[in-house]
Amino acid sequence: MNIDLHDTWYLGDVEIPTRLVLAPMAGVSVQAFRRQGRRYGAGLVCSEMVSVAGIQHRNERTLGYLRVGSDEHPLAIQIFGSDPVAMAEAARMVEAAGADVVDMNFGCPVKKVTKTGAGASLLDDPDHACRLVEAVATAVSLPVSVKMRRGVANGSRTCLEVGPRLVAAGAASLTLHPRSAKQMYTGTADHSLTAELVSLVDVPVIASGDVTSRAKAQSVLATTGAAAVMVGRAAQGNPWVLREIMGGSDDPSREEVVAELILFIRETVRELGEHRANGFLKKFYGWYLGRGRFPRPFKQELVMLSTIDEVEMRLFAAAPGARFVLERLLREVPDPADEVLLDSLPISIYGGG
Ligand SMILES: Cc1cc2nc3c(=O)[nH]c(=O)nc-3n(C[C@H](O)[C@H](O)[C@H](O)COP(=O)(O)O)c2cc1C
Repeated sequence: MNIDLHDTWYLGDVEIPTRLVLAPMAGVSVQAFRRQGRRYGAGLVCSEMVSVAGIQHRNERTLGYLRVGSDEHPLAIQIFGSDPVAMAEAARMVEAAGADVVDMNFGCPVKKVTKTGAGASLLDDPDHACRLVEAVATAVSLPVSVKMRRGVANGSRTCLEVGPRLVAAGAASLTLHPRSAKQMYTGTADHSLTAELVSLVDVPVIASGDVTSRAKAQSVLATTGAAAVMVGRAAQGNPWVLREIMGGSDDPSREEVVAELILFIRETVRELGEHRANGFLKKFYGWYLGRGRFPRPFKQELVMLSTIDEVEMRLFAAAPGARFVLERLLREVPDPADEVLLDSLPISIYGGG
């Protein structure tokens, strides 16, 4: 059965124009990443997790604050925490900032998060998890979604017990990354669990984990009955995988790669400031320029440069035609003037899901 990735579907009352969702990834899903994801076919994009603790403790160590641009919609903003009152308050801020969906993180396996009773640890405390969903769903009129792992321990099937309860508590959609928290990112995502979850709930389920191509996307959709597939790591520095999943080519020219990277750099500098962006961006150089697109020493050379201007110059020198591609891209992306800044929700330095 071939499923059309261009089908629309609904998350609550929000129309999602394609069955491809861009994953939330801490340290990756900056605004430039989300905007790019929308341009390359993702019907829904998601912010990385933001800490509701920032509301109570203004001194949370943070990478910066979320911005919401007019071209990101539909957009989910993901919050994490363990206090129902703070979660509800954060959800109201997310709604006020114009997000379309509030997503709750019940999947982060990172110790600094789980030890506070947030993230994947909530799967071991379903009563509290349901209280959180109820508190958030009552606080906002936006649809609330939950992203979770299969469970905490290896081989766990907890998601199948907790999932229907979260829906009863008010979740309008569930995303399942069917690895255990213990597994982190090792092994494979077991999408037979996704199929089981789909059969147990009457809300759309999004399948996350190891979707790296159109063939894999089609097979996960067909075998699970999920409403959409979510793509994470495969899209790091590689929006062309989204294009391939939607039926296009995953073989960009060098000029396209350089133009997208420079646009990404400029937008990230605007979002994080030059100092933070400088370090943050280094991993993206390898992601964009790898995959046999540029010789390895070129990436190492970029990483050694000390300013963003030098990086841009070196990139243009490697692919002069990229200027024309970039000019076209710049004409397509909207003016950032109408952005909303969520300055009370810090982007946490602790990532994962
Ligand atoms: C670097 C990194 C950061 C992540 N951060 C988050 C996060 O903030 N929230 C979340 O729900 N999942 C997070 N995840 C999990 C992804 O959203 C996704 O579920 C997982 O990577 C499996 O999908 P993939 O195989 O397509 O990468 C993160 C994953 C990675 C690799």
